[in-house]
Amino acid sequence: MRILSLFSGIGGLDSGFIEAGFNIVWANDFDKYAVETYRANYDNEIVLGDINKIALETLPDFDVLIGGFPCQPFSMMGSELGFEDTRGTLFFRIAEIIKYKTEHHNKPRVLVLENVRTLRTHDKGKTFKTIKHVLENDLGYKVFDTVLNTADYGIPQTRNRTYIVCFANEDAEFSFPDKMPLQLTLQDLLEENVNNKYFLSETILPTILSDGTGGYKAKSEIDLSIARPLCATMGKMHRACQDNYVTQNGRVRKLTPRECARLQGFPDNFVIPVSDCQAYKQFGNAVTVNVARAVATEVRNTLERLGEWNDD
Ligand SMILES: C[S@@+](CC[C@H](N)C(=O)[O-])C[C@H]1O[C@@H](n2cnc3c(N)ncnc32)[C@H](O)[C@@H]1O
Repeated sequence: MRILSLFSGIGGLDSGFIEAGFNIVWANDFDKYAVETYRANYDNEIVLGDINKIALETLPDFDVLIGGFPCQPFSMMGSELGFEDTRGTLFFRIAEIIKYKTEHHNKPRVLVLENVRTLRTHDKGKTFKTIKHVLENDLGYKVFDTVLNTADYGIPQTRNRTYIVCFANEDAEFSFPDKMPLQLTLQDLLEENVNNKYFLSETILPTILSDGTGGYKAKSEIDLSIARPLCATMGKMHRACQDNYVTQNGRVRKLTPRECARLQGFPDNFVIPVSDCQAYKQFGNAVTVNVARAVATEVRNTLERLGEWNDD
């Protein structure tokens, strides 16, 4: 099955779909460092550029669209919850691509969209309602959605994300993947012999370990067995109430980029060609490969049941 991958980043979603037997025919991101990492790890083409500026007629035909798109507020001017209300957003661009392909070629069979958990409550739920309305009413898909947590798919990281899976075939019956018992802890994923630069100095330690202040008070905790959510700004030093710190050989340190890769399900042969700062951002932005693979497998099962699966 041919996949168009949007907002590909370093390909967390892509990896999961490839492992489930799908074939990425086109990928895109406008971050040159993410594209550098993507190119170092995948054989398929990735186009560097803003998706809003890529001409629709240059996109190849595909069966499945996947994308973890950034969440943006809609104008809701008409409050009709329609396609036009999403204009100017990246969701609108996704909808435009689907509309264009449906009108000029074939209607994509499946769409898999990923986003932060709060997409569902964003703007008092209006954003999510509009997205579902456009997918169901304007584009004609049968829509399934839920929140999945990385820790329920074998990886010790709390990471709740919204997944939206849409089928063109109205007979589609889809179930999100069953949870599996967690058999690893963060400590199982730590590297040994870590460079000194990842350890905290005695000077910064008290600030990092102090509880939050003012409006943001939270308990500082390190050495968690299930990591807090990796975030795109991990490169900066956050307090221990927001970030992950571990004790090793009696000293406290932050996670290495390789440990972040492991916490997102990327194998140890995943090449990290960029600076630590970019690597933290990329792993913080990524979709956990294990969750993507579990969702992709269920998508494949549904397509097989419908008789729509092909090996292209
Ligand atoms: C949350 S990340 C996606 C992670 C990725 N789906 C994965 O599985 O690892 C969102 C990505 O969208 C990209 N992006 C944001 N706006 C874009 C645009 N207008 N055109 C192309 N890429 C864009 C960002 O550079 C970022 O890499």
